[in-house]
Amino acid sequence: MQKSILILGACGQIGTELTLALREKYGNDQVVASDIREGSKNLMDSGPFELLDATNYDAMEDVIMYYEIEEVYLMAAMLSATAEKFPMRAWNLNMNSLFNVLNLAKEGKINKVFWPSSIAVFGPNTPLENTPQSTIMEPSTVYGISKQSGERWCSYYFRKYGVDVRSVRYPGLISWKTLPGGGTTDYAVEIYHKAVSGASYTSFLKADTKLPMMFMDDAIRATVDIMEIESDKLTVRSSYNLAAMSFTPAEITASIQAYIPEFKVDFKPDFRQDIADSWPNSIDDSQATVDWGWQPQFDLERTTEEMLRNLGK
Ligand SMILES: NC(=O)c1ccc[n+]([C@@H]2O[C@H](COP(=O)([O-])OP(=O)(O)OC[C@H]3O[C@@H](n4cnc5c(N)ncnc54)[C@H](O)[C@@H]3O)[C@@H](O)[C@H]2O)c1
Repeated sequence: MQKSILILGACGQIGTELTLALREKYGNDQVVASDIREGSKNLMDSGPFELLDATNYDAMEDVIMYYEIEEVYLMAAMLSATAEKFPMRAWNLNMNSLFNVLNLAKEGKINKVFWPSSIAVFGPNTPLENTPQSTIMEPSTVYGISKQSGERWCSYYFRKYGVDVRSVRYPGLISWKTLPGGGTTDYAVEIYHKAVSGASYTSFLKADTKLPMMFMDDAIRATVDIMEIESDKLTVRSSYNLAAMSFTPAEITASIQAYIPEFKVDFKPDFRQDIADSWPNSIDDSQATVDWGWQPQFDLERTTEEMLRNLGK
Protein backbone atom coordinates (compact mmCIF):
# COMPACT_ATOMS: atom_id res chain seq x y z
CA MET A 1 0.00 0.00 0.00
CA GLN A 2 1.79 3.16 -1.19
CA LYS A 3 0.60 6.63 -0.35
CA SER A 4 2.41 9.82 0.53
CA ILE A 5 1.52 11.54 3.75
CA LEU A 6 2.36 14.93 5.32
CA ILE A 7 2.12 15.48 9.08
CA LEU A 8 1.94 19.09 10.30
CA GLY A 9 3.02 19.60 13.92
CA ALA A 10 4.80 16.24 13.80
CA CYS A 11 7.13 16.93 16.75
CA GLY A 12 4.43 17.21 19.40
CA GLN A 13 3.00 14.66 21.82
CA ILE A 14 0.72 12.97 19.26
CA GLY A 15 2.58 13.86 16.05
CA THR A 16 5.76 12.10 17.14
CA GLU A 17 4.09 8.75 17.76
CA LEU A 18 1.75 9.13 14.80
CA THR A 19 4.68 9.78 12.45
CA LEU A 20 6.57 6.73 13.72
CA ALA A 21 3.43 4.54 13.42
CA LEU A 22 2.62 5.72 9.88
CA ARG A 23 6.26 5.25 8.80
CA GLU A 24 6.15 1.71 10.10
CA LYS A 25 2.93 1.08 8.19
CA TYR A 26 3.54 2.86 4.87
CA GLY A 27 7.35 3.11 4.69
CA ASN A 28 9.71 5.76 6.07
CA ASP A 29 10.06 7.78 2.87
CA GLN A 30 6.30 7.93 2.32
CA VAL A 31 5.67 9.94 5.49
CA VAL A 32 6.98 13.53 5.60
CA ALA A 33 7.15 15.01 9.10
CA SER A 34 6.98 18.81 9.48
CA ASP A 35 6.93 21.33 12.31
CA ILE A 36 8.28 24.77 13.21
CA ARG A 37 10.95 23.05 15.33
CA GLU A 38 12.97 19.87 15.15
CA GLY A 39 11.73 16.79 17.01
CA SER A 40 13.19 13.81 18.84
CA LYS A 41 16.21 11.99 17.38
CA ASN A 42 14.04 8.98 16.65
CA LEU A 43 11.66 11.06 14.59
CA MET A 44 14.33 13.10 12.78
CA ASP A 45 16.39 10.02 11.87
CA SER A 46 13.54 7.87 10.61
CA GLY A 47 12.44 9.76 7.48
CA PRO A 48 12.01 13.09 5.65
CA PHE A 49 11.50 16.27 7.70
CA GLU A 50 10.60 19.82 6.63
CA LEU A 51 10.57 22.99 8.72
CA LEU A 52 7.07 24.23 7.88
CA ASP A 53 4.69 26.74 9.45
CA ALA A 54 1.14 25.40 9.14
CA THR A 55 -0.24 28.94 8.91
CA ASN A 56 1.78 29.56 5.71
CA TYR A 57 -0.40 28.43 2.79
CA ASP A 58 2.22 28.87 0.06
CA ALA A 59 4.94 27.02 1.95
CA MET A 60 2.51 24.17 2.67
CA GLU A 61 1.48 23.99 -0.97
CA ASP A 62 5.15 23.82 -2.05
CA VAL A 63 5.86 20.87 0.26
CA ILE A 64 2.68 19.10 -0.90
CA MET A 65 3.60 19.53 -4.56
CA TYR A 66 7.26 18.58 -4.08
CA TYR A 67 6.52 15.30 -2.27
CA GLU A 68 3.29 14.60 -4.23
CA ILE A 69 1.39 14.38 -0.93
CA GLU A 70 -2.02 12.70 -0.93
CA GLU A 71 -3.02 12.82 2.74
CA VAL A 72 -2.44 15.46 5.42
CA TYR A 73 -2.65 15.02 9.20
CA LEU A 74 -2.93 18.43 10.88
CA MET A 75 -1.55 18.08 14.42
CA ALA A 76 -0.28 21.67 14.88
CA ALA A 77 -2.38 23.62 17.38
CA MET A 78 -2.20 25.62 20.58
CA LEU A 79 -3.65 23.52 23.41
CA SER A 80 -6.18 24.44 26.10
CA ALA A 81 -4.06 25.80 28.96
CA THR A 82 -1.64 27.79 26.76
CA ALA A 83 -4.50 29.11 24.62
CA GLU A 84 -6.08 30.78 27.69
CA LYS A 85 -2.87 32.85 27.97
CA PHE A 86 -2.65 33.78 24.26
CA PRO A 87 -6.24 33.81 22.94
CA MET A 88 -5.65 35.53 19.60
CA ARG A 89 -2.50 33.54 18.79
CA ALA A 90 -4.39 30.34 19.56
CA TRP A 91 -7.34 31.32 17.38
CA ASN A 92 -5.07 32.32 14.49
CA LEU A 93 -3.00 29.14 14.61
CA ASN A 94 -5.87 26.73 15.19
CA MET A 95 -8.16 28.20 12.53
CA ASN A 96 -5.74 29.36 9.82
CA SER A 97 -3.88 26.04 9.73
CA LEU A 98 -7.21 24.24 9.32
CA PHE A 99 -8.41 26.56 6.54
CA ASN A 100 -5.10 26.08 4.71
CA VAL A 101 -5.48 22.31 4.72
CA LEU A 102 -9.22 22.33 3.90
CA ASN A 103 -8.65 24.74 1.01
CA LEU A 104 -5.80 22.63 -0.42
CA ALA A 105 -8.19 19.66 -0.32
CA LYS A 106 -11.00 21.71 -1.87
CA GLU A 107 -8.65 22.60 -4.74
CA GLY A 108 -7.88 18.91 -5.28
CA LYS A 109 -4.21 19.19 -4.25
CA ILE A 110 -4.66 16.52 -1.54
CA ASN A 111 -7.40 13.95 -1.28
CA LYS A 112 -7.80 13.16 2.44
CA VAL A 113 -7.43 15.15 5.68
CA PHE A 114 -7.20 14.19 9.35
CA TRP A 115 -7.86 16.97 11.85
CA PRO A 116 -8.27 16.28 15.58
CA SER A 117 -10.96 17.83 17.71
CA SER A 118 -11.20 17.48 21.49
CA ILE A 119 -13.54 16.94 24.44
CA ALA A 120 -12.98 20.71 24.89
CA VAL A 121 -15.80 21.31 22.38
CA PHE A 122 -18.16 20.58 25.27
CA GLY A 123 -18.92 23.12 27.97
CA PRO A 124 -20.53 23.64 31.37
CA ASN A 125 -24.07 23.07 30.00
CA THR A 126 -23.24 19.75 28.34
CA PRO A 127 -24.48 16.58 30.12
CA LEU A 128 -21.44 15.55 32.21
CA GLU A 129 -21.83 11.78 32.25
CA ASN A 130 -21.71 9.65 29.11
CA THR A 131 -21.80 12.79 26.97
CA PRO A 132 -23.65 12.01 23.70
CA GLN A 133 -22.23 12.46 20.20
CA SER A 134 -24.74 15.24 19.51
CA THR A 135 -25.58 17.45 22.47
CA ILE A 136 -25.34 20.98 23.86
CA MET A 137 -21.93 22.44 23.01
CA GLU A 138 -21.18 25.77 24.61
CA PRO A 139 -17.40 25.69 25.15
CA SER A 140 -16.06 28.29 27.58
CA THR A 141 -12.38 28.17 26.58
CA VAL A 142 -10.56 29.73 23.60
CA TYR A 143 -9.31 26.28 22.67
CA GLY A 144 -12.81 24.75 22.86
CA ILE A 145 -14.28 27.56 20.76
CA SER A 146 -11.61 26.97 18.09
CA LYS A 147 -12.26 23.21 18.07
CA GLN A 148 -16.03 23.63 17.88
CA SER A 149 -15.68 26.11 15.00
CA GLY A 150 -13.22 23.75 13.33
CA GLU A 151 -15.76 20.93 13.51
CA ARG A 152 -18.42 23.05 11.85
CA TRP A 153 -16.00 24.02 9.07
CA CYS A 154 -14.96 20.38 8.49
CA SER A 155 -18.59 19.38 8.19
CA TYR A 156 -19.23 22.34 5.84
CA TYR A 157 -16.28 21.53 3.54
CA PHE A 158 -17.43 17.91 3.34
CA ARG A 159 -21.03 18.81 2.49
CA LYS A 160 -20.35 21.76 0.24
CA TYR A 161 -17.12 20.76 -1.53
CA GLY A 162 -16.87 17.00 -0.96
CA VAL A 163 -13.63 17.33 1.05
CA ASP A 164 -12.83 13.96 2.65
CA VAL A 165 -12.00 15.20 6.13
CA ARG A 166 -12.05 12.86 9.12
CA SER A 167 -11.88 13.71 12.80
CA VAL A 168 -12.08 12.39 16.37
CA ARG A 169 -12.55 14.24 19.66
CA TYR A 170 -9.51 13.04 21.59
CA PRO A 171 -9.81 12.91 25.37
CA GLY A 172 -6.68 13.68 27.50
CA LEU A 173 -3.79 11.62 26.11
CA ILE A 174 -1.24 9.75 28.20
CA SER A 175 2.13 8.83 26.67
CA TRP A 176 5.75 8.24 27.64
CA LYS A 177 7.66 9.01 24.42
CA THR A 178 6.97 12.77 24.20
CA LEU A 179 5.90 15.27 26.86
CA PRO A 180 2.49 16.93 26.50
CA GLY A 181 2.24 20.43 25.05
CA GLY A 182 0.23 22.66 27.43
CA GLY A 183 -3.14 20.97 27.95
CA THR A 184 -5.41 20.61 30.99
CA THR A 185 -4.86 16.85 31.24
CA ASP A 186 -1.02 17.13 31.27
CA TYR A 187 -1.07 16.22 34.98
CA ALA A 188 -1.81 12.60 34.03
CA VAL A 189 1.57 12.39 32.25
CA GLU A 190 3.64 14.52 34.66
CA ILE A 191 2.52 12.41 37.61
CA TYR A 192 4.18 9.26 36.19
CA HIS A 193 7.46 11.11 35.50
CA LYS A 194 7.54 12.34 39.12
CA ALA A 195 6.65 8.92 40.48
CA VAL A 196 9.52 7.13 38.71
CA SER A 197 12.03 9.85 39.65
CA GLY A 198 11.28 9.29 43.33
CA ALA A 199 9.82 12.79 43.80
CA SER A 200 6.40 13.78 45.10
CA TYR A 201 3.85 15.50 42.84
CA THR A 202 1.60 18.53 43.19
CA SER A 203 -1.53 18.13 41.09
CA PHE A 204 -2.96 21.29 39.51
CA LEU A 205 -6.42 19.68 39.55
CA LYS A 206 -8.45 18.70 42.62
CA ALA A 207 -8.36 15.10 43.85
CA ASP A 208 -11.90 14.34 42.66
CA THR A 209 -11.87 15.94 39.17
CA LYS A 210 -12.89 13.17 36.82
CA LEU A 211 -11.92 13.50 33.14
CA PRO A 212 -11.99 11.25 30.06
CA MET A 213 -8.50 9.95 29.21
CA MET A 214 -6.80 7.60 26.75
CA PHE A 215 -3.43 5.87 26.38
CA MET A 216 -1.53 7.03 23.28
CA ASP A 217 -1.49 3.60 21.58
CA ASP A 218 -5.30 3.65 21.51
CA ALA A 219 -5.33 7.21 20.12
CA ILE A 220 -2.90 6.32 17.34
CA ARG A 221 -4.88 3.20 16.44
CA ALA A 222 -8.11 5.24 16.30
CA THR A 223 -6.42 7.80 14.04
CA VAL A 224 -5.05 5.20 11.63
CA ASP A 225 -8.35 3.26 11.62
CA ILE A 226 -10.61 6.22 10.86
CA MET A 227 -8.31 7.21 7.98
CA GLU A 228 -8.40 3.67 6.53
CA ILE A 229 -12.16 3.03 6.58
CA GLU A 230 -14.18 3.42 3.36
CA SER A 231 -15.54 6.95 3.11
CA ASP A 232 -19.21 5.93 2.89
CA LYS A 233 -19.08 4.19 6.31
CA LEU A 234 -18.56 7.52 8.07
CA THR A 235 -21.78 9.19 9.20
CA VAL A 236 -20.11 11.97 11.21
CA ARG A 237 -18.08 14.61 9.36
CA SER A 238 -17.73 17.03 12.23
CA SER A 239 -15.88 14.82 14.73
CA TYR A 240 -16.47 11.48 16.47
CA ASN A 241 -16.68 11.10 20.25
CA LEU A 242 -13.89 8.79 21.39
CA ALA A 243 -13.42 7.24 24.85
CA ALA A 244 -11.32 4.73 26.73
CA MET A 245 -11.37 5.46 30.50
CA SER A 246 -12.23 8.18 32.99
CA PHE A 247 -10.43 8.77 36.29
CA THR A 248 -9.60 11.40 38.93
CA PRO A 249 -6.17 12.54 40.21
CA ALA A 250 -6.90 10.51 43.38
CA GLU A 251 -7.52 7.36 41.33
CA ILE A 252 -4.39 7.67 39.16
CA THR A 253 -2.39 8.29 42.37
CA ALA A 254 -3.76 5.08 43.88
CA SER A 255 -2.96 3.10 40.73
CA ILE A 256 0.68 4.31 40.90
CA GLN A 257 0.89 3.64 44.64
CA ALA A 258 0.05 -0.01 43.93
CA TYR A 259 3.61 -0.16 42.44
CA ILE A 260 5.30 2.66 44.42
CA PRO A 261 3.60 2.78 47.85
CA GLU A 262 5.79 5.66 49.12
CA PHE A 263 4.71 7.99 46.24
CA LYS A 264 3.09 11.17 47.62
CA VAL A 265 0.73 13.62 45.91
CA ASP A 266 -0.81 16.86 47.10
CA PHE A 267 -3.38 19.04 45.37
CA LYS A 268 -3.09 22.76 44.53
CA PRO A 269 -5.66 23.62 41.87
CA ASP A 270 -4.75 26.52 39.55
CA PHE A 271 -6.49 28.18 36.55
CA ARG A 272 -6.70 24.81 34.81
CA GLN A 273 -9.28 23.65 37.40
CA ASP A 274 -11.89 25.95 35.79
CA ILE A 275 -11.16 24.46 32.37
CA ALA A 276 -11.43 20.90 33.70
CA ASP A 277 -14.70 21.75 35.49
CA SER A 278 -16.24 22.75 32.16
CA TRP A 279 -15.47 19.39 30.51
CA PRO A 280 -17.40 16.08 30.66
CA ASN A 281 -16.63 13.25 33.12
CA SER A 282 -17.20 10.50 30.58
CA ILE A 283 -18.00 10.15 26.88
CA ASP A 284 -20.42 8.01 24.86
CA ASP A 285 -18.40 6.85 21.83
CA SER A 286 -20.89 4.27 20.52
CA GLN A 287 -21.19 5.98 17.10
CA ALA A 288 -17.48 5.40 16.46
CA THR A 289 -17.92 1.74 17.41
CA VAL A 290 -20.89 1.32 15.06
CA ASP A 291 -19.38 3.20 12.10
CA TRP A 292 -15.75 2.08 12.09
CA GLY A 293 -15.38 -0.57 14.78
CA TRP A 294 -13.67 1.56 17.47
CA GLN A 295 -12.72 -0.38 20.65
CA PRO A 296 -10.22 0.88 23.28
CA GLN A 297 -7.64 -1.53 24.67
CA PHE A 298 -6.10 0.37 27.61
CA ASP A 299 -7.79 1.00 30.97
CA LEU A 300 -6.14 2.84 33.88
CA GLU A 301 -4.48 -0.27 35.28
CA ARG A 302 -2.88 -1.22 31.96
CA THR A 303 -1.89 2.41 31.29
CA THR A 304 -0.11 2.65 34.66
CA GLU A 305 1.69 -0.62 34.02
CA GLU A 306 2.90 0.61 30.57
CA MET A 307 3.89 4.07 31.79
CA LEU A 308 5.90 2.86 34.78
CA ARG A 309 7.61 0.10 32.79
CA ASN A 310 8.60 2.40 29.93
CA LEU A 311 9.65 5.31 32.11
CA GLY A 312 12.02 2.98 33.85
CA LYS A 313 10.54 1.43 36.95
N1 LIG B 1 -2.62 15.77 23.68
C1 LIG B 1 -3.89 15.74 24.01
O1 LIG B 1 -4.23 15.30 25.11
C2 LIG B 1 -4.94 16.20 23.02
C3 LIG B 1 -6.29 16.03 23.37
C4 LIG B 1 -7.27 16.46 22.49
C5 LIG B 1 -6.91 17.00 21.25
N2 LIG B 1 -5.59 17.15 20.94
C6 LIG B 1 -5.27 17.75 19.63
O2 LIG B 1 -4.34 16.95 18.91
C7 LIG B 1 -3.46 17.79 18.14
C8 LIG B 1 -2.02 17.50 18.51
O3 LIG B 1 -1.85 17.72 19.90
P1 LIG B 1 -0.49 17.46 20.68
O4 LIG B 1 -0.85 17.06 22.05
O5 LIG B 1 0.42 16.60 19.89
O6 LIG B 1 0.08 18.95 20.73
P2 LIG B 1 1.58 19.42 21.04
O7 LIG B 1 1.49 20.80 21.61
O8 LIG B 1 2.32 18.38 21.80
O9 LIG B 1 2.20 19.49 19.57
C9 LIG B 1 1.83 20.47 18.64
C10 LIG B 1 3.00 20.66 17.69
O10 LIG B 1 2.65 21.68 16.76
C11 LIG B 1 3.79 22.46 16.52
N3 LIG B 1 3.41 23.79 16.03
C12 LIG B 1 3.04 24.88 16.73
N4 LIG B 1 2.79 25.90 15.90
C13 LIG B 1 3.00 25.44 14.64
C14 LIG B 1 2.91 26.03 13.35
N5 LIG B 1 2.55 27.31 13.18
N6 LIG B 1 3.20 25.25 12.28
C15 LIG B 1 3.58 23.95 12.43
N7 LIG B 1 3.69 23.36 13.63
C16 LIG B 1 3.40 24.09 14.72
C17 LIG B 1 4.51 22.52 17.84
O11 LIG B 1 5.90 22.85 17.65
C18 LIG B 1 4.29 21.09 18.36
O12 LIG B 1 5.36 20.23 18.00
C19 LIG B 1 -3.91 19.23 18.42
O13 LIG B 1 -4.85 19.64 17.46
C20 LIG B 1 -4.62 19.11 19.75
O14 LIG B 1 -5.57 20.13 19.91
C21 LIG B 1 -4.60 16.77 21.80
